[in-house]
Amino acid sequence: MTSTNDIRSIFLDYFASHGHQIRPSASLVPQNDPTLLFTNAGMVPFKNIFTGQETPSHKRATTAQKVVRAGGKHNDLDNVGYTARHHTFFEMMGNFSFGDYFKAEAIEFAWNLLTKGFKIPTEKLLVTVYADDDEAAALWRKIAGLPDEKIIRIATADNFWRMGDTGPCGPSSEIFYDHGPSIAGGPPGSPDEDGDRFVEIWNLVFMQFLEESGGKRSLLPHPSIDTGMGLERFAAIMQGKQDNYDTDTLRALIEASAETLHQDADGRFKTSHRVVADHLRSTAFLISDGVLPSREGRGYVLRRIMRRAMRHLHIMGAKEPVFYKLLPALIQQMGHAYPELSRHQSLITETMRGEEERFAALLTRGLALLDDEMEHLPSQGTLPGDVAFKLYDTFGFPLDLTQDVLRERGHFVDVSGFEDAMKEQRQRARAAWVGSGDTTVETVWFDARDRFGATEFFGYVTEEADAEVQAIFRGNDELAEAPKGQDVTIILNQTPFYGESGGQVGDHGTLTAPGVVVNITDTQKKNGDLIVHYGHVVEGSLKPGMTVRASVNHQRRSAVRAHHSATHLLHEALRRQIGEHVTQKGSLNAPDRLRFDISQPRPLTQEELTSIEAEVNARIRENSPVETRLMSPDQARAEGAMALFGEKYGDEVRVVSMGRGDNERSAYSIELCGGTHVERLGEIGLFRIVSETGVSSGVRRIEAVCGSSAEQNINTTETLLNEVADLLKVTPSEAPHRLVALLEERKALNAQISSLQHKLATGSNAGHNETINGITLTARLLDDVNPRDLKGLADSLTQQIGSGVVALISGANDRGNIVIAVTKDLTDRISAVDLVRAASPIMGGKGGGGRPDMAQAGGAHTAEKEVFAMIRERLSQLS
Ligand code: ALA
Repeated sequence: MTSTNDIRSIFLDYFASHGHQIRPSASLVPQNDPTLLFTNAGMVPFKNIFTGQETPSHKRATTAQKVVRAGGKHNDLDNVGYTARHHTFFEMMGNFSFGDYFKAEAIEFAWNLLTKGFKIPTEKLLVTVYADDDEAAALWRKIAGLPDEKIIRIATADNFWRMGDTGPCGPSSEIFYDHGPSIAGGPPGSPDEDGDRFVEIWNLVFMQFLEESGGKRSLLPHPSIDTGMGLERFAAIMQGKQDNYDTDTLRALIEASAETLHQDADGRFKTSHRVVADHLRSTAFLISDGVLPSREGRGYVLRRIMRRAMRHLHIMGAKEPVFYKLLPALIQQMGHAYPELSRHQSLITETMRGEEERFAALLTRGLALLDDEMEHLPSQGTLPGDVAFKLYDTFGFPLDLTQDVLRERGHFVDVSGFEDAMKEQRQRARAAWVGSGDTTVETVWFDARDRFGATEFFGYVTEEADAEVQAIFRGNDELAEAPKGQDVTIILNQTPFYGESGGQVGDHGTLTAPGVVVNITDTQKKNGDLIVHYGHVVEGSLKPGMTVRASVNHQRRSAVRAHHSATHLLHEALRRQIGEHVTQKGSLNAPDRLRFDISQPRPLTQEELTSIEAEVNARIRENSPVETRLMSPDQARAEGAMALFGEKYGDEVRVVSMGRGDNERSAYSIELCGGTHVERLGEIGLFRIVSETGVSSGVRRIEAVCGSSAEQNINTTETLLNEVADLLKVTPSEAPHRLVALLEERKALNAQISSLQHKLATGSNAGHNETINGITLTARLLDDVNPRDLKGLADSLTQQIGSGVVALISGANDRGNIVIAVTKDLTDRISAVDLVRAASPIMGGKGGGGRPDMAQAGGAHTAEKEVFAMIRERLSQLS
């Protein structure tokens, strides 16, 4: 038996030996197409090459592409489990020619691989061609030698392949395998073609056209080839099975399910095992490509798939989470071909377990309610829409889960009633919101949220994606067009731009389309999950409906990421070193700095800051990966995640863990956070605290820088140090020593100056004393004496004269300062305080004070003549 893994290798090697480059499977989340939910065919990653927007490195390629068909144009979800060949996840093998070979070679390659490589007897094969494709029919006759009755012409869409409503397309030719007359069914195009006898195994698409919205069709720059062979159905043929679920890989998963649930693989739960096996694959592969269960968009399709699987596990008697336990079986089967499964094993496991835990109680209660309702339904009855809505709204039952339950009992759901109930709920929410009295400007966003739904955010996994412009606003006005030069706000259906929230600033970048460039200078979140881009049209004209490439400014975002991750490390380091009382009071994560406000009653010391900085840097150097998981708020708290009290959280939260944990915790830091983070801590580079200040009572603010900003900060500091060293004429390392010496020298010099001045002022040649009214007066202007020294001088002078009054004015620093001393024997006749108070206004000052024997005052001028005259006069008037 040829294993599925071997078939994959044989296929790829065959085309490699014919000049094709083997390319790894692209992500399930299309990076280049806003109109697609998931990669739903092997050609999706090459779409822009077919249309000529991108030039391929090789003109021939071959791939095994992961494909999900659930939601959107190709949606197989409802049938999975009940049929032999429907899957939500499968692998599509393909060979591609980008303007290189065309129909003849494509047919020849396929025919040779099937009949010579895989040795399928030619009589087992037949083909279809598009009704008017005579060329293809003739080639089949010539190359394969097929008779006309085995070249069936089909006029329907079956033989005209389209990726979606728009995109490259073309006539196709399908190769069928005939299981023989023992199986019921007719050839393609016949009334009983849906039977299992004839199975399509390979679709060769002759890509010729580009379909635009509105049905307009134009020629592609070069005719190209896109082929698709479903690996599972081909494996079934190679392994002699009728049913894809009997092939090696899927059977192994079914058996893992049977073993884990202790339920016979082929017994009454056969369908459930198949659902579980299929959904396990789509779940694990989607999560490994960055999709996480959520309430909108891709995340919601994943959630629907997961909850459908959980319901089937529940039917089989699962009492606690088991879905995640099947992951090792999948990794064993497919991990070699798809290493991303092992790489993300813990993320996948945790996401699966979390979703299962969260849904468990709701599932039991919802199913009980549904059972009750079904009791009242007649056979083939219809469940009222409002009940289905209640199951959705209260119990988290996606509509297709309810439908799946009803289907087993032959019932249906009133889908339009369900949709009405949904609409009514939105209106109620809106009415409640409008009543809350918010500003009218914001009404615009409420309307937009209503019309377009949440903007799907890609920014956790990519910084570039194509998106569709849903609406353009200028203020409150919606525009049909935004010409060059306008400042507008733009809503896209999906975006890699982060809308400012949780302290992280919004992204900058560009939106581009042929001839159109819009600079995005800010991104904000409105109404919770609507992402609004603020932009300036620099070229061309932007219109709703356009497909644009949205590119985040990578450098800026990387710097923001580094600062955000560093904030988490800082937070934890503070809690460990300063205390558990440290909680976040606010934060800013910008490209060039971070700001973190904390509850903390006293300033942090320099030592504490140095030690915290060192701890953060040590964590950075550990370079461990940063992990993000989704879980319920309760679970997050149980894991020890730091959450903001009073913050409102939905029924699930993102939990970001980083750094190696210790005994008690799985990671160093665990926080609830919707922001974007580095993949490994080493990307932060370097962390440096630049300031610690008080903001308000009990709140301290730490500002820090990372990466290149930290580098810059160090450079600036170093330049300053070098300048200082240069001025001191020493090396930087000698600078402190030199400075201390200089300061000491300065102190000594000052002391010397004071004593010299003292000598000058008090020496015998210092001037004359005068006697007024029998009182000795020493009145002097000491121009350059430091005012601080005046009192000491006055003391010395009073001691010299024994009894009398000393008045000294200093003119240093371009101001006037006066000190007046009165010897104790005279203070009851004249007070130094009175004298300085009288001097002060003369000197252009105010007030002055001291004791009766020593007082001082100051003013703008020395005014010594007037002041001394005033003193003389007062002395002469004493009785
Ligand atoms: N793109 C083609 C398909 O998906 C080959 O069938």
